[in-house]
Amino acid sequence: MKTWQNFIGGAWVPPVAGNYRDNTNPADTRDLIGRFPLSGEADVERAVASAQRGFQQWRRTPAPARGDVLRRVGDLLVARKEEMAELMTREMGKPLAETRGDVQEGIDTAFYAATEGRRHFGHTVPSELANKWAMSYRRPIGVAGLITPFNFPLAIPTWKAFPALLCGNAVILKPGEDVPHTATVFVEILLEAGLPPDVIQLVHGEGEAGAAIVKHPDVALVSFTGSTETGSQVGETCGRMHKRLSLEMGGKNAMIILNDADLELALEGALWGAFGTTGQRCTATSRLIIQDGVHDEFVAALVKRASTLVLGDGRSKGTDVGPLVNADALNKVDRYVAIGGAECDLQLGGAAAKGQGLEHGFFYQPTIFTNVAAGARVEQEEIFGPVLSVVKVKDVAEAFRVNNGVRYGLSSSVYTRDVNVAFRALTELDNGITYINAPTIGAEAHLPFGGVKQTGNGHREGGWEVFEFYSETKVGYVDFSGRLQRAQIDNY
Ligand code: UN1
Repeated sequence: MKTWQNFIGGAWVPPVAGNYRDNTNPADTRDLIGRFPLSGEADVERAVASAQRGFQQWRRTPAPARGDVLRRVGDLLVARKEEMAELMTREMGKPLAETRGDVQEGIDTAFYAATEGRRHFGHTVPSELANKWAMSYRRPIGVAGLITPFNFPLAIPTWKAFPALLCGNAVILKPGEDVPHTATVFVEILLEAGLPPDVIQLVHGEGEAGAAIVKHPDVALVSFTGSTETGSQVGETCGRMHKRLSLEMGGKNAMIILNDADLELALEGALWGAFGTTGQRCTATSRLIIQDGVHDEFVAALVKRASTLVLGDGRSKGTDVGPLVNADALNKVDRYVAIGGAECDLQLGGAAAKGQGLEHGFFYQPTIFTNVAAGARVEQEEIFGPVLSVVKVKDVAEAFRVNNGVRYGLSSSVYTRDVNVAFRALTELDNGITYINAPTIGAEAHLPFGGVKQTGNGHREGGWEVFEFYSETKVGYVDFSGRLQRAQIDNY
């Protein structure tokens, strides 16, 4: 079995303490991908020292030249899209169509960030005094610690790393422990594209490695995607140390289907939103809020279609739904299904999936609960699996109330043909993203991504806003009058 290493100090190096973790294919755990480092404080210490050197070099590289490196990264991702999709599916299970989409999201992010190198705007505004100029501009911040999850093993690291690099920061990446192979190839591509080696550090491992990055005094900013619980710990540390922090955390996203909806369209959307990526997206549709006039008809059609979804290895043709990522994920889903079973009516699924080709993987049956009360645990808590909870409501007001009645606020969706209701939804739903006549998943790289309430802490990934997170505003005044001009005094 191949042993892989961290990338620290410009070289592929073993972890200081010598600990490793086996990485296996979740569709077939007999398929070992390799051993990857379990890193700790000593590894992070070295990574930070190297990244600080990298930062000094990279911050002096003009932003358009930094953008050129990212454009070459994009070109390499295009050339290696299929190869990457294959290894990502092997490593985390989702079907090839989805891992191809994941790579494409990275490509889109690369080209978007590349062109930002020739914008990266500041403002020039008039001074209140004559012969004085006033302007703002952006400066990089330092060493950025990026902690990413397994579910989008390429897209999420690119969402964070590309804007961080474009702005002139050095990066330490700690990828999800289930997807170290994808991250390794990603770093190989960054280096091949010409990124100076000290500017990127790859530190594999679990929470210990992540915590060491978050609390290191010379890591100036942290971007974390993961659970709300871990996000709170990260937030406490960063708050105490006055670090800049971006958090993307849990979701409990709802699709609202109203009496006037196109039910065929809503059915396709619900299947994709709930069971795509085996429900392991922060944006997954985990609640359906259905108006009473179409509830029974829709549920019947949904159960029928969901029962025909094909489970299997994501690399096999015809697979709709891959495995969960690991045994812990499967046990968590199972625990929630037991809770749901006691609270609501189980319409479909409710157990690990057995059958030919599924014996050695973490497969779970698509599961649907109906008669779910607003406030039930399966209606409130993030499950991160193929479990859909259906709530019946009588009108639009109740639907919106149920949507907003959870502690999360990432995405929402409304199926309706009424333009007034559509715009009310855009206005009243407490989410960072609302879709009309599309499911809760499908964010595009050039728009801000993130959520309200306990999903996030006010920052956004993607789009134009993310460049503000990864840079600091500085203001310059140039007085060329040749005399002391006192602002607010001499001119009034
Ligand atoms: C995530 O679920 O963590 O909108 C990210 C989507 C994807 C990104 C999801 N483009 O579902």
